[in-house]
Amino acid sequence: MAERINVNTRMGSSSYPISIEAGSIRMIGQIAERSASGSNVAIVSNAKVDGLYGATVTNAFRQAGLKPVTHLIGDGERFKNFKTLESTVKFLGENKISRTDLIVALGGGVVGDLAGFAAAIYLRGIRFIQIPTTLLAMIDSSVGGKTGINMDFGKNLVGAFYQPSAVVIDPNVLQTLPKREITAGFCEAVKQGALSGPKLLKQTEDALNNIGQFDRFLADQVRFKASIVAADERESAAKTDAKSRKILNFGHTFGHAIEKVTRYRRFKHGEAVGHGIIFAAELSKKLELLAEDEVKLLNDVVHRTGSLPPLHGIDPSEVFEAFKFDKKNIGKSLQWILLEGIGKPVVKPGSEIPDRILRDTIRAVISR
Ligand code: NAD
Ligand code: GLY
Repeated sequence: MAERINVNTRMGSSSYPISIEAGSIRMIGQIAERSASGSNVAIVSNAKVDGLYGATVTNAFRQAGLKPVTHLIGDGERFKNFKTLESTVKFLGENKISRTDLIVALGGGVVGDLAGFAAAIYLRGIRFIQIPTTLLAMIDSSVGGKTGINMDFGKNLVGAFYQPSAVVIDPNVLQTLPKREITAGFCEAVKQGALSGPKLLKQTEDALNNIGQFDRFLADQVRFKASIVAADERESAAKTDAKSRKILNFGHTFGHAIEKVTRYRRFKHGEAVGHGIIFAAELSKKLELLAEDEVKLLNDVVHRTGSLPPLHGIDPSEVFEAFKFDKKNIGKSLQWILLEGIGKPVVKPGSEIPDRILRDTIRAVISR
């Protein structure tokens, strides 16, 4: 039987329901009616997801008396760009989508980030609903209002904080998600488990082993992400405590670096974060913050998510150089997210970590 879980969030500037319920995309019409007063709905998706779920979602809107139109964008990270944004806002204008109408993002994080940004800027902001269809988008990108696009000078560097009106999670859609995408999503779940504490980490392990209630695991992951966003919606530069939104970048400095030096071709983002978690745990141990058994636990759980593309052939000095261009550089110093224990993140200025230790850790992790 379907279980309905509602996470009622207070996200700084706004509050919105996040529902987790098997089969809920069929009921999207009623949810949309509560979110906007207009009758037009612009669905943003890609051909793959639209082919799988577009008809169900479109029919659900029609049954609720709404008028859906669909805009398809290219599939993949490289389409999260200005050109796609332009074609999306043009589509909205040409279809006379008004301020009382609604945008719906149907897809993974690429669709969600781009459609959310279009919603933030079109007519200076219209309502939008996220229907995340990947594990990563369900537990991470659809929650918290970070929207945006990639630029030649870096990923996610143009965007807006713009919260959706609702997030509708239908776990059934994961049945068609390829194995690598499941692994990538689970790596982000391990990240959130490691940051939250032993309970969420254990729930993540259980979900990997098909033990326990999957919907509850999703709900607790979402609750954790929402709690961090509520405390620091705009990732304030000055906030550096354990509740800072920056902590969600755990595993990302090494992750981004290996994505960059392999020209974004070898790893899915979540897979790179998986390696990044192992790196950050190892670095935390070298700095005498994290105990050996907790490093081992994190290693084990990351490896249980699936087989990650290997690190072999990556030049350690290129990785070290890539750290300098990380978004988490504040002024001239990189801020590292490390662990003092499971559930005990710390934000460490790069100036406090000797280059020698960074280089040693990179070499050790790559050569394993
Ligand atoms: P994605 O959106 O590229 O989706 C992965 C692949 O799965 C795509 O090929 C997609 O077409 C396919 N797909 C999606 N749902 C499917 C389904 N149910 N069945 C079959 N195939 C399906 O990748 P992603 O991992 O969801 O998202 C990555 C993006 O999210 C990146 O751009 C990243 O920057 C962004 N992100 C944003 C935030 C945030 O807070 N806004 C957080 C993390 C990641
Ligand atoms: N995924 C990082 C954040 O939402 O802040």
